[in-house]
Amino acid sequence: MEIKVVENTIVKEADILVVNQFEGEKTTNDLANKYAVEEDNFKGKFGETYLLPTYGNAPYRKVLVIGFGKKEEFCPNKLREAVAKAIKKCSQMEAKKVAFDIKGVDFDYSEQLTMGAFIADYKFDKYKSEKKDKHIQEVFVQADEMKVRKAEKIAAAMTFARNLANEPAQFATPTELASIAQDFGLETKIYDREECEKMGMGAFLAVGRGSDEEPKFIHMKYTCDNPKKRIAIIGKGICFDSGGLDIKPASSMLTMKDDMSGAACILGVMSIIKEFNPQVEVHGIIAACENMPSGKAYKPGDILTAMNGKTIEIDNTDAEGRLTLADALCYACELKVDEVIDLATLTGACMVALGSHAAGIMGNDETLVHNLIDTAKRNGEKFWELPLWEEYFDSLKSEVADMKNSGARWGGASAAGVFLQKFVKDVKWAHIDIAGTAFLDKPQKELIAGASGAGVRTLLGYILEQ
Ligand code: BES
Ligand code: MN
Ligand code: ZN
Repeated sequence: MEIKVVENTIVKEADILVVNQFEGEKTTNDLANKYAVEEDNFKGKFGETYLLPTYGNAPYRKVLVIGFGKKEEFCPNKLREAVAKAIKKCSQMEAKKVAFDIKGVDFDYSEQLTMGAFIADYKFDKYKSEKKDKHIQEVFVQADEMKVRKAEKIAAAMTFARNLANEPAQFATPTELASIAQDFGLETKIYDREECEKMGMGAFLAVGRGSDEEPKFIHMKYTCDNPKKRIAIIGKGICFDSGGLDIKPASSMLTMKDDMSGAACILGVMSIIKEFNPQVEVHGIIAACENMPSGKAYKPGDILTAMNGKTIEIDNTDAEGRLTLADALCYACELKVDEVIDLATLTGACMVALGSHAAGIMGNDETLVHNLIDTAKRNGEKFWELPLWEEYFDSLKSEVADMKNSGARWGGASAAGVFLQKFVKDVKWAHIDIAGTAFLDKPQKELIAGASGAGVRTLLGYILEQ
């Protein structure tokens, strides 16, 4: 799909012209006003659509009216959602060229229109032998060219992340993630098992030991002259989470190829970062491995030593993400960056708390956490702060080691956060739990079921606004 910025979309030859209608108002299109609004009493409620043929009386074959809802409730997020809805309608009708004539909106919609169009056009059909090509080829809009091009890149990063997280675990292995990371033209270092052992990453390596796939620790670096800030972004990279010896029930294991969605987000961001040339240094870090049961697997009761020397008693081999992140956080802290942000499909508890609409966020620096929440809001995502009180460590106390990797069932998202904090030293840090938002079991707003690209828009937004 290509977005073309033009002066006047109404004169453009297109299969469908999309016009908007605020609730109780008219559209800018005479035909639509005559038939949809006056004759059929179309109200323009949010998300409702009305399709009208033009029978050769206009350069476009059909007009699609899209309801924008109440004007006072309209916002950039609603615009993106409505545009996505229109695009989906158009592609159902196998339209190839679509023109948008959007009027009466009192904010610059260039970015969200572009995002909505690309998000709605996404399909994961590479393994279908019969592909229904319902992709729209050209979208004509009146918009700010620069903003459209920027959003297009962010959308591409999101697509990149969605493709990776949708990819079955048989293909998206740690080795594959490492090889992808090396394709971005960034300074990249891949550490293999022996090198990780030398660095003392006993927690990460224990998790990966049960699998026949080699673990890979990935470090990508983007930099520029005189960076204003240095940031490390870490993504949980469990390419498959079977639970390990504490094996998951079948229904919970079904979607566990998505347990590298944090890593997919980091790879999405790093795939495009050079094109933006931001004035910050960004380190992308992934401890990639699989959590599998086998004769070599780590066991409940084992005691592991992380890179910072802290010891961890294994209470449950299914609480593996925090172990891999522990070593990744230690590694990131040694880089002496200003901020560390990790993204992880970490806990079912976060999913229980917030569902699939919001990610949980916690951290040791109020400003960083609040900035990320605001950035998320402006970029079409929702983050909600969860507490990071030391009390949550009570259930992680161990008789034999410095801590256990899991404990009480209640408050599991915060307990995981407090666990991670033990591996954070002298740096501003935020942890984002995307267990609920990364992979959807059914369509939600502009997203189809499957990988959502969680975190990409917010992280890129955050990096670009520095
Ligand atoms: N990858 C899971 C968390 C998860 C659950 C992500 C559902 C996406 C959807 C994680 O590794 C896990 O298994 N967590 C356990 C922790 C428990 C054993 C302390 C959980 O949340 O049940
Ligand atoms: Mn697990
Ligand atoms: Zn996991």
